[in-house]
Amino acid sequence: MSLKAIAVMASGRGSNLRVILDAVAAGNCPVDVQLVISDKAEAQALDIARAANVPQVLHITPKDYTDRAAFDAACAEAIDAADCQWIVLAGYMRILSSPFVRRFRQRIINIHPAILPAFPGAHAVDDALTYGVKVSGCTVHLVDEVLDGGPILAQAVVPVLDDDNCESLHARIQAEEHKLYPATLARMVELGFHFDGRKVIWNT
Ligand code: GRF
Repeated sequence: MSLKAIAVMASGRGSNLRVILDAVAAGNCPVDVQLVISDKAEAQALDIARAANVPQVLHITPKDYTDRAAFDAACAEAIDAADCQWIVLAGYMRILSSPFVRRFRQRIINIHPAILPAFPGAHAVDDALTYGVKVSGCTVHLVDEVLDGGPILAQAVVPVLDDDNCESLHARIQAEEHKLYPATLARMVELGFHFDGRKVIWNT
């Protein structure tokens, strides 16, 4: 298995997938995107992956499976068949089942639009605005069985302005995501990391 081979799972617009593929093409991110999986037929991420000639682009339909575990098992089989070391979640809107998380322990990475552990969950940008924080940002983290609760790999901060709405704040956060995600993936395959408790220490 190539330690650089990654599978990306995405449900939506796919802007993070796009910047990862762009960084790879520009020689700035030494990962190898072997597989893109989406649970949504209409996900733009699928078009982005096809346009970039990703070797395997799969739409796997949740309705075809009896439950979440069976759907996740089908995704896991595709990931193993493609020999991917890392699973990169990029706007993947489904909660992963415990067997999936255990199967790929410390090999699943997610990006979340808030400074964790503040504002986990699906409405992070709105929740941060409603709370009235003055800074927010994004977090790249490993996925464990706690929603948005795995060890933190990297974070970037943005200001929250008085006249922000969800769209304007999310756009500012996404600009940081688009730098942070490819850079963190590059660091991951080039340097690697180890743990001190739950703290991630980057190798030098
Ligand atoms: C990002 O804001 C990410 O933090 C969150 O979902 C969004 C995905 O955006 N998990 P995109 O589909 O990559 O444009």
